[in-house]
Amino acid sequence: MPRLVCIECGRQYPEEVRYTCDCGGLLEVKYDLKDIKFDLKEAKTRKFGVWRYRELLPTQRRVSLDEGGTPMYECVSNELASIYVKNEGANPTGSFKDRGMTVGVSKALEFGMKSVACASTGNTSASLAAYAARAKIAAIVVIPGGKIAYGKLSQALIHGAKVCAIKGNFDEAMGIINEMCRKYKLYLLNSLNPYRLEGQKTLAYEIVDQLGVPDKIILPVGNAGNISAIWKGFKEFHELGIIDKLPQMIGIQAEGASPIVKMFKEHLGELTPEPNPKTIATAIRIGNPVNWPKSIRAIYESGGLADSVTDREILDAQKLLARKEGIFVEPASASSIAGLIKLIDSGKIDEEEKVVCITTGHGLKDPDTAVKSCEGDLIEVSDLNQFDTIIKTLN
Ligand code: F0G
Repeated sequence: MPRLVCIECGRQYPEEVRYTCDCGGLLEVKYDLKDIKFDLKEAKTRKFGVWRYRELLPTQRRVSLDEGGTPMYECVSNELASIYVKNEGANPTGSFKDRGMTVGVSKALEFGMKSVACASTGNTSASLAAYAARAKIAAIVVIPGGKIAYGKLSQALIHGAKVCAIKGNFDEAMGIINEMCRKYKLYLLNSLNPYRLEGQKTLAYEIVDQLGVPDKIILPVGNAGNISAIWKGFKEFHELGIIDKLPQMIGIQAEGASPIVKMFKEHLGELTPEPNPKTIATAIRIGNPVNWPKSIRAIYESGGLADSVTDREILDAQKLLARKEGIFVEPASASSIAGLIKLIDSGKIDEEEKVVCITTGHGLKDPDTAVKSCEGDLIEVSDLNQFDTIIKTLN
């Protein structure tokens, strides 16, 4: 039976509705891996996706929309040659959050919870709303007012969640939802929830399935749950003897919202929250990531690193990926590509290395930013003769 273990003091809890240890430390789901019968060869005969790895997941309930099983593209452009992109935008609601929600909402049902809740910069709320609809339970989400991308807002609304916009940022929304979950017995499905991260660790399993173990994994970091979950997935496969090496984990933050990068670069023992996070990549506009202790361990244990990129670099990387590879991702996701380019330029990544960039959310999540980024590219046609000149510019 899986149990909850505190990453700080090691205290163990049975499976229950609990998000942190009594000491305040973060919790992790632990299994007796030696008792688990998981055969990757046999598992490979099952449908590719989160539930292929069911023996390593903490619930037998299954509220599913066929999440996971996302494509791994090998890049074809000169700029990104031989880089791999694991495109999480191909999930049912368009982001990696679905991996976590299929497990988290299933767990909510197992615990008999009637309502689920989260704070969100957008994608978590979209995913939670969809999975709650599927599970026939209520969802309430708290978002930073006026600041989440329209694609995500439309999803949370159309799936019927109670959407509450506050006058503060994501970190304040997180504080409010924590309080409300305690007060009203809502099931919290932010990445503080250790069960949700269990779903997200399947990203590591799938990468191994598709490619083996890369040298480096590069991904955007916001609340810092995903980097922690993926590292856990790799470590479990290692412990099970399925893989014999581990990748380095590289977390990328936007310059205006980069407390983990600061912590890493200045060798700090504690996170100093950024009180006023700013970036065009709204998904990762987070100044006080709740999972910083897990994520910094993932970075140090794996011999990885954390770095930041500017909004300009993010938008350029988004366009590059869309125009040279045919992959449209939202700005936060493009930060992994921007980070890759920066690290290659500074010699921290060798061109010989096998690198996987995780693009976490679909480009259509934030159409406004994409259209703005292409300002001047839209051609108003008032006279069909204009095509004579337009066609000449085609190649
Ligand atoms: N990329 C996208 C597209 C995201 O939506 C998020 C987080 C991240 C990366 C960062 O992942 O938090 O695990 O480090 N979005 C959350 C939300 C915060 O509310 O949708 P993380």
